[in-house]
Amino acid sequence: MTDYSSFIFFQLLIIIFHASGQDPPYIGHFCGNRANFTRNSTYYSNLRSLLSALSRPNASYTTGFFSATVGTGSDTVTGLFLCRGDIIPEICADNALYAVDDALTRCPDQKEATIWYNPCTLRYSDRNILSTLATSPGVLLTNTNNVTAELRDRLRDVLNSTMDDAARTAVNSSRKFALKKTDFTPTTRFYGLVQCTPDLTSDECNVCLRRAIDGLPREQVGGRNLLPSCNVRYELYPFYSETLAPPPPPPNSSSVFRQPPPANPQPRVYKNSTSMIVAIVVPIAVGLLLFAALQFYFVKRLKKSYDTSASNDGNCKNNMCPDLNVRMRVCSYICIYEHQVKNT
Ligand SMILES: *[C@@H]1O[C@H](CO)[C@@H](O)[C@H](O)[C@H]1NC(C)=O
Ligand SMILES: *[C@@H]1O[C@H](CO)[C@@H](O)[C@H](O)[C@H]1NC(C)=O
Ligand SMILES: *[C@@H]1O[C@H](CO)[C@@H](O)[C@H](O)[C@H]1NC(C)=O
Ligand SMILES: *[C@@H]1O[C@H](CO)[C@@H](O)[C@H](O)[C@H]1NC(C)=O
Ligand SMILES: *[C@@H]1O[C@H](CO)[C@@H](O)[C@H](O)[C@H]1NC(C)=O
Ligand SMILES: *[C@@H]1O[C@H](CO)[C@@H](O)[C@H](O)[C@H]1NC(C)=O
Ligand SMILES: *[C@@H]1O[C@H](CO)[C@@H](O)[C@H](O)[C@H]1NC(C)=O
Repeated sequence: MTDYSSFIFFQLLIIIFHASGQDPPYIGHFCGNRANFTRNSTYYSNLRSLLSALSRPNASYTTGFFSATVGTGSDTVTGLFLCRGDIIPEICADNALYAVDDALTRCPDQKEATIWYNPCTLRYSDRNILSTLATSPGVLLTNTNNVTAELRDRLRDVLNSTMDDAARTAVNSSRKFALKKTDFTPTTRFYGLVQCTPDLTSDECNVCLRRAIDGLPREQVGGRNLLPSCNVRYELYPFYSETLAPPPPPPNSSSVFRQPPPANPQPRVYKNSTSMIVAIVVPIAVGLLLFAALQFYFVKRLKKSYDTSASNDGNCKNNMCPDLNVRMRVCSYICIYEHQVKNT
């Protein structure tokens, strides 16, 4: 695509993104205080180049993972961008644009940053963070709604087995990503998602996922544990778009929930066509926007508000935030409690 047509294209996506009433995609961030830069430094210009490289609509968005290194010696900056595995490339690219634009407002002069957005993670550092396991810092999001007392044991069992199952699938998959669902009650299903950055080895991914899963809440109706190298999430509603998930394993289980095959495959992505003109881009964009709106449908079903009051007295242990009375803790871990509000 030409720069101009991609500009129009992404502007349209962004407009719809906002018009669809999404929560702000920002979740939490950590800026490393180990080393800072000034705005006139080579590091800063390298970082700017890195951020623009990460937001370039390249083929890599099809895997939802993008990494780059810019500069030499002590001015080297390495970064990566990871989209949730079920996000279509166009939305991933849109999120990358948002994230790189937002990053320097979150961490204006720190050389190292990890920023989590709703469906993606952005990291960069003066150190080499690629192929390097990092399980801290992190963000834990806990739904404030408890499961009922009689379902507590059921949740623990289902959570353990489903997330464990997902982790085992993910660590040996090329994208280090897996979705699993299980019947939770006769009327409710448990939906789980696990994902590592695909630059990790299977073993590293396994270590990260185990730690993230162990840190999940076990009495609430939903939770997310977001670490630099991996993230896990469960909900009792379909928070991911199943039609876009990687191909499921051969359907030979005595599967209790049969679903009609997804009617709509991913739209064709017209990439690298330098002669693309706006006249073509716009109709495609409109189609994609509809698709994007569909994709957001499930996410929109439950409105959430994030409690943002913070306290610095947090005594976070084991990367967990078990105390729902403490609204948010800041140490090497941010804990956010989501208040689920029923949509009208
Ligand atoms: C970097 O800046 C932050 C404040 O923005 C400060 O707290 C920190 O000590 C600085 N780190 C270094 C290594 O100068
Ligand atoms: C950058 O600007 C600061 C003052 O704003 C100055 O002290 C420093 O020497 C400058 N560095 C470079 C590499 O120009
Ligand atoms: C992305 O595009 C840039 C130029 O636009 C190119 O230099 C780079 O190699 C591409 N990366 C991939 C992975 O295709
Ligand atoms: C959830 O359970 C805890 C005790 O385990 C209780 O203190 C809290 O008030 C409950 N929250 C809700 C929203 O019912
Ligand atoms: C679930 O996993 C946790 C942490 O790994 C463990 O402590 C607990 O015993 C497990 N529960 C069940 C029912 O397997
Ligand atoms: C992943 O695959 C390797 C061999 O390809 C196997 O040894 C290992 O047990 C697998 N891991 C899991 C968790 O299935
Ligand atoms: C499915 O499993 C049954 C046994 O449960 C086996 O006979 C059949 O060949 C399997 N089908 C496929 C496609 O693997």
